[in-house]
Amino acid sequence: MNPMTDGDGGVGNVPVGGPPRSGAKATPHEAHGAHGAARAPHHDGRPVLRVNGAAADPTALLLSPFDRGFTLADGLFETLRCYGGVPFRLERHLERLHAGAAALGLALPASLERTVAQAVDEARTSGLRDAVLRITVSRGAGAPGVAPPIDAEPTTVVAVHPLPRFAAALYTAGLTAHVATGRRNERAQTAGLKTLAYTDAVAALAEARRAGCDEAIFLDTADHVSEATASNVFLMRDGTLVTPPLSCGVLAGVTRAAVLELVAGTVLPHEESTATLGDLHQASEAFVTSSVREIVPLVQVAGRPIGDGTPGPVTRRLMAEYGELVFRECYGPGGGGARP
Ligand SMILES: Cc1ncc(COP(=O)(O)O)c(C=O)c1O
Repeated sequence: MNPMTDGDGGVGNVPVGGPPRSGAKATPHEAHGAHGAARAPHHDGRPVLRVNGAAADPTALLLSPFDRGFTLADGLFETLRCYGGVPFRLERHLERLHAGAAALGLALPASLERTVAQAVDEARTSGLRDAVLRITVSRGAGAPGVAPPIDAEPTTVVAVHPLPRFAAALYTAGLTAHVATGRRNERAQTAGLKTLAYTDAVAALAEARRAGCDEAIFLDTADHVSEATASNVFLMRDGTLVTPPLSCGVLAGVTRAAVLELVAGTVLPHEESTATLGDLHQASEAFVTSSVREIVPLVQVAGRPIGDGTPGPVTRRLMAEYGELVFRECYGPGGGGARP
């Protein structure tokens, strides 16, 4: 029996105040009576609950239905990639998670790092080596309302998934992007935090798909290019590699930082600097960065090709150098990754 979906499984032991429908047990809601206002005399105080349409018992669920991650997106997450069973730059992701948790006043359990290490080990042992590791934390369950409960126990979920198969064309042909009608709010209290609230990104991506594009680019409220739905943006402007500064509401991407590291000290001029949509249209090339997809060429924005509409030479060079960086850190001495 699935406690998530089986109606009887959830509320069978709830004392009910009225006669059940024939052949069915009454739900607590039905026990409230036809008008719903008066409580049944021996109601035990448990809330009326249905999950996916079926009555359910909160204690039988994996996560509380009142988890604030679910009800309010009151939480944070990290997504990173494992190569040969080794997560790339896990420390940076954990640092970002801790910084976000401090900003939200969310106490992460001391055991989190150990749990992550266990999950990674289990995945590696079971042969799941090229993988996506997701760490999700929320403030935990709480009563209705926005005020953060003082005594909430954070919920943590650590999941390791097989790496999705990306079409080769993603890297050889690149992405086309739509400009989202919504904006990144660089002045939002949670700007730059990787909170669970991704509905803006979901809506922007759906809008992009309706427009026949692969991705969406957000501008900030001052009309600067900010970032894509789940990746940072880089562009070549007059021979300089430019990425929007964190003040444009962008997430401080771990991959973005790695790219800046790769170009530091090279002859390629680079800067964190604001850029307009016009700069993106006139760029000789552009790309987006994220932990799972790494560096992906961006070849078209709002129906206009960037450069000649194919992945440019700086993009291709950085893609190769990023691959070497990953190889060194994950498969090299100290990395310990199982070679493909
Ligand atoms: C909004 C946003 N920006 C940028 C990134 C890229 O960050 P990272 O390179 O750390 O994966 C992500 C990653 O998911 C993201 O969600």
